[in-house]
Amino acid sequence: MIIEQEAHHTNTHLLTTEFEYAAPGSIAETLALLRARGDEARVLAGGTYLLVQLKMEQLSPRSLIDIRWLPELRGRSFEDGARLGANETIRAVRDDAHIQAQYTALAEACAAFGSMQIEIMGTLGGNVCNGSPASDTVPALLAFDAELDLIDPDGARTLALADFLRGPGRTALRPHELLKSIHLPLPRPGTGSAFIKISRVVADLAKASVAAVIVRENDRIVDCRLAFGSVAPVVMRARRAEAFLIGQAFSTETALEAGRIASEEIAPIDDVRSTAWYRREVAKALTHDAVQLAWERSTGQQANGREADRAVVLLTPPPKRVMRPVAADEYREIKLVVNGAAQRLWVKPNDLLINVLREKLELTGTKYGCGLGECGACTIHLNGRPALACLVLAVAADGSEVSTVEGLQGADGKLDPLQQAFIDHGAFQCGYCTPGMLMMTKALLAENPTPSQDDIRDYLKVNRCRCTGFASIVRAVLSTVEPNGTH
Ligand SMILES: Cc1cc2nc3c(=O)[nH]c(=O)nc-3n(C[C@H](O)[C@H](O)[C@H](O)COP(=O)(O)OP(=O)(O)OC[C@H]3O[C@@H](n4cnc5c(N)ncnc54)[C@H](O)[C@@H]3O)c2cc1C
Ligand code: FES
Ligand code: FES
Repeated sequence: MIIEQEAHHTNTHLLTTEFEYAAPGSIAETLALLRARGDEARVLAGGTYLLVQLKMEQLSPRSLIDIRWLPELRGRSFEDGARLGANETIRAVRDDAHIQAQYTALAEACAAFGSMQIEIMGTLGGNVCNGSPASDTVPALLAFDAELDLIDPDGARTLALADFLRGPGRTALRPHELLKSIHLPLPRPGTGSAFIKISRVVADLAKASVAAVIVRENDRIVDCRLAFGSVAPVVMRARRAEAFLIGQAFSTETALEAGRIASEEIAPIDDVRSTAWYRREVAKALTHDAVQLAWERSTGQQANGREADRAVVLLTPPPKRVMRPVAADEYREIKLVVNGAAQRLWVKPNDLLINVLREKLELTGTKYGCGLGECGACTIHLNGRPALACLVLAVAADGSEVSTVEGLQGADGKLDPLQQAFIDHGAFQCGYCTPGMLMMTKALLAENPTPSQDDIRDYLKVNRCRCTGFASIVRAVLSTVEPNGTH
């Protein structure tokens, strides 16, 4: 269960809130639209948080402005520390070799997300702007002293992340403001970092999390930042624990004492995920483990840091998808290629792709499970990448290629080798869950033709249902890689 607030409304397969939709082609157009629409507009990035809020009727904006395709919000550059475009996906940040080497805690925070589909769809900017104290990336960003590049119709400003976080779901973002990019200073030589999250199950938000950044000189800690998630109204630094560690030689006792101090500094509450008591207790262990790991990594990262000093700029070329505003009650024609066949469909802004596939195209293999991004039953491929059809607006998919489970079967009716392997290995969850498992494993094999068992489990982390076994699914996937099923 990922939703943070209480639901106000019964969840149905429809998105009942009505809104205008627009996909501007530049920041300038976006800012003009934001100014024109005033407080009634919201920007839509990956949609993995916003569309759930709309579905649950926790928000009802009159206008959604899709910023996913804005070229100015994309890209990762490493000329002066790291500058990460707000629209970089969690998965892209997780996989970036420079982030892994220099900002290890951030890569680990991205890998700690409860769902691979959310990692692929969700953005770093969305994770920061939703202001959740349970966000996974924010503790790591805070521990690296991140600054935010913000822009609104009146100009640009830079704000420390620490000053941006105001309370649960509240930030210092102004009504017409966009987060453009996030800047992380270059770590000092001798820096090591780690992120650790504890949650009820893998596919969940944190009960508690910590990011530790340590700077080491010889046998001493000369600088240290500890940032905690899910233990206070905002992600917070434990400054007394940091001050205690600075100047100390590392030892188990020192790390344990830092944990004890941190557990007194945090301000946890009882909620559906945990109790305040447990959070205080587990914060001690998390601090110890993260400080130790960061310390152990601090030697290695010196070398990596030097290696990565070279100016490197990686830019993801943005697909251009512009759409002039579509009124809330207007039908707009979209073009899709679904399982290889061109389709023209008339949709309203609040039509979800899952319903268009199931009801207009009668592709009922894509299942409606939770409708909130939590089960993976609705997984399709959107432009070759897994996506949750229950969290995609059909209008926003205009121009896309879509594959559903029906498309796995060849034109001659022959099953895909992966489908056959599922049959041969009895690798089934129920009829709701199996199509999503197939679409995910197909995507995994396209991305990584020789996955390990751990790769398979990680990729399918949100699809795993507790009512059946998972071992036969892993065996089935591995059997398509090596015929004898061993790996
Ligand atoms: C099933 C499920 C699992 C999840 N698991 C995790 C998890 O493990 N860890 C975690 O931290 N989060 C998790 N989330 C929460 C969410 O998916 C992430 O926070 C994600 O990174 C949000 O990014 P997005 O691009 O989808 O944001 P959106 O939903 O598009 O937007 C979120 C908010 O930020 C605003 N916004 C987005 N981009 C900008 C910008 N550039 N400028 C100004 N405002 C902006 C939007 O207006 C909106 O208010 C989960 C959500 C679901 C549904
Ligand atoms: S994730 Fe889409 S229906 Fe459950
Ligand atoms: S609900 Fe489908 S296998 Fe559990």
